[in-house]
Amino acid sequence: MSLDQPAGRQPDHPVAPQFPARWSPRSFTDRAVTEAEVMSLLEAARWAPSASNHQPWRLVWARRGEDGFAAIRDTLTGNNPVWAGKAGALFVVASKDTVTNRDGDEVANRTAAFDTGAVWMSLALQARTMGLYAHAMGGFDKDKLASAVALPDGHTLHCVVAVGEQGPVEALPDDLAAREKPSTRKPVTETARHGRF
Ligand SMILES: Cc1cc2nc3c(=O)[nH]c(=O)nc-3n(C[C@H](O)[C@H](O)[C@H](O)COP(=O)(O)O)c2cc1C
Repeated sequence: MSLDQPAGRQPDHPVAPQFPARWSPRSFTDRAVTEAEVMSLLEAARWAPSASNHQPWRLVWARRGEDGFAAIRDTLTGNNPVWAGKAGALFVVASKDTVTNRDGDEVANRTAAFDTGAVWMSLALQARTMGLYAHAMGGFDKDKLASAVALPDGHTLHCVVAVGEQGPVEALPDDLAAREKPSTRKPVTETARHGRF
């Protein structure tokens, strides 16, 4: 599997190719994501690090054609259902809000969202190694999605991730086709400081 650097994503400093090669297209082909591929994506997610190894993430997935896929798609907002409805699979990324402490009390897990962010990135990087692309969406109706996946109490929804094989840009509606380009990044000097802010 080649991990070519998309145009405009030339790194300023040497990095492994998988970082600039991951981006978020909206056009997907008809190729279904197989259950075995879903398991590989979840396996990559499984190895993400977390505070005290609590692994607070919880994922719900469905493949295109399944009732669960349509139920998740129908909770997406804006343009998201238009393009993500053609993905091969949808993953709902959530986390458990609390952990059990040494005294047996349920206490807030302050790092649950941070830990779960690592899971989405692991899944996205694994997707690229499999010839697939992953595109995260924060644009969903929280209440509808909670109901669609039967979110248990004490859990938080973070995003929905569309996964599939990249399709032709022409398959998108004109407004989305115009935006189907890998994005660039701010220079490191704008987001990191040596020693202190
Ligand atoms: C948490 C999160 C929420 C996002 N929400 C949406 C969304 O609702 N719709 C969308 O089209 N893209 C969404 N994106 C994709 C971002 O716009 C995209 O990752 C960003 O522009 C950087 O581009 P790249 O992923 O191609 O490198 C989201 C990404 C993240 C990480």
